[in-house]
Amino acid sequence: MPKKLFIETLGCQMNVRDSEHMIAELNAKEPYELTTDSTEADLIIINTCSVRERPVHKLFSELGLFNKKKKEGAKIGVAGCTASHLGKDIIKRAPYVNFVLGARNVSKIAEVVEKDKSVEIDINYDESDFAFKDFRSSPYKAFINISIGCDKSCTFCIVPKTRGDEISIPAELIVNEVKKSVANGAKEVFLLGQNVNNYGRRFSGEHDKVNFTELLRMVSKVDGLERVRFTSPHPLHMDDEFIEEFATNDKICKSMHVPLQSGSTEILKEMKRGYTQEWFLNRIEKLRAMSPEVSISTDIIVGFPGESDADFEESMKVAKAVKFEQMFSFKYSPRPHTEAAEYTNVIDSEVASERLLRLQTFQDGVVDEVMRVQVGKTHEVYFELLRSDGFISGRSDNNFLVKVEGSEELLGEIRKVRITDAARMSLTGELLA
Ligand code: 5AD
Ligand code: SF4
Repeated sequence: MPKKLFIETLGCQMNVRDSEHMIAELNAKEPYELTTDSTEADLIIINTCSVRERPVHKLFSELGLFNKKKKEGAKIGVAGCTASHLGKDIIKRAPYVNFVLGARNVSKIAEVVEKDKSVEIDINYDESDFAFKDFRSSPYKAFINISIGCDKSCTFCIVPKTRGDEISIPAELIVNEVKKSVANGAKEVFLLGQNVNNYGRRFSGEHDKVNFTELLRMVSKVDGLERVRFTSPHPLHMDDEFIEEFATNDKICKSMHVPLQSGSTEILKEMKRGYTQEWFLNRIEKLRAMSPEVSISTDIIVGFPGESDADFEESMKVAKAVKFEQMFSFKYSPRPHTEAAEYTNVIDSEVASERLLRLQTFQDGVVDEVMRVQVGKTHEVYFELLRSDGFISGRSDNNFLVKVEGSEELLGEIRKVRITDAARMSLTGELLA
């Protein structure tokens, strides 16, 4: 009987891929069967996120619950970014935790599971050319890491402290992963990095210097691959060559996540983002001009230390000017080991909440309009998920979630869909021929 593994993944797509890597490495040592019920698991892993404070609080209450209801003898492990930043303190606070494995150490999972109370959180560890075993939760879409770590020093962000310095994964390994995924049935790959368009600045050994635009060209030449997505580019490194490749390469899906963080040039300086409002708007203008069908999503933080009413209005101004197709907005949350956590010009929590509400209310209106005007349009949808309500769903090239009535023969197919109805989160349509 294979052991049962329950794994909960919080945070970003990078974590989703790290969980797949852990499953693959564990399985290479001994067979595990995945379960969605923690009470029957022999091994429980929480792959954590520490980008904001709330998920960290939630971790300890969740751990307590898992421990109370776990099967006799089951092991509990904490992995990911919170593991990196709290390390052995996790075991101090929750002594029943069996191991702690940092976000940059996932390749060591099979060893760590064997050693009770082991804590492996070396942020200098280099996994950039580690050949992970194969496991993918979806055969249709393959997440593929192109770099590890992050070299930026945004003053609000804990990630450089949890994932360490940035090292690019050699291009030949990436292309091999793409070929393997395509051979296994994926028509779409999703390239992942903390800062994808910084790709190629540093490799751990001697490798050909390939920049991100060149990597996109290499990847999209793989036979049988139909779609390439990536996340996230940094606005500072969005040069003309990159935008032109994005716009003219038919394999690249026309949706881009461009994290603004703040619309105020002053606050951007305090955040050490390296660009101004004008630069950001100029890049978006070029992107929309070259690629009129593009969907642009963004992240915005409100209530960063020192953010005045006028600074916040600058974020509103950019939101109004760009009309992002999607926005993730957050109240600033001070994080340990970050520069901004030391700033004393803290914004009152209620003021920050009001700003967030204003921004989100405005954005809801934008999204409703964006979705409404899709009705009657035709999108090419890559079907990936069979739902229990008789619908099958997938993503349009520009990343709208689209569902149609249909059955499993559509899975893994790219088909034309005419949109008949719109809601805030998804579109409904009918298949064309
Ligand atoms: N407080 C609030 N939001 C944050 N993010 C990163 N760090 C913080 C923080 N300290 C947001 C950024 C980032 C997204 C993943 O999370 O907007 O792009
Ligand atoms: Fe991903 Fe950042 Fe959260 Fe780590 S802290 S899981 S890198 S979003």
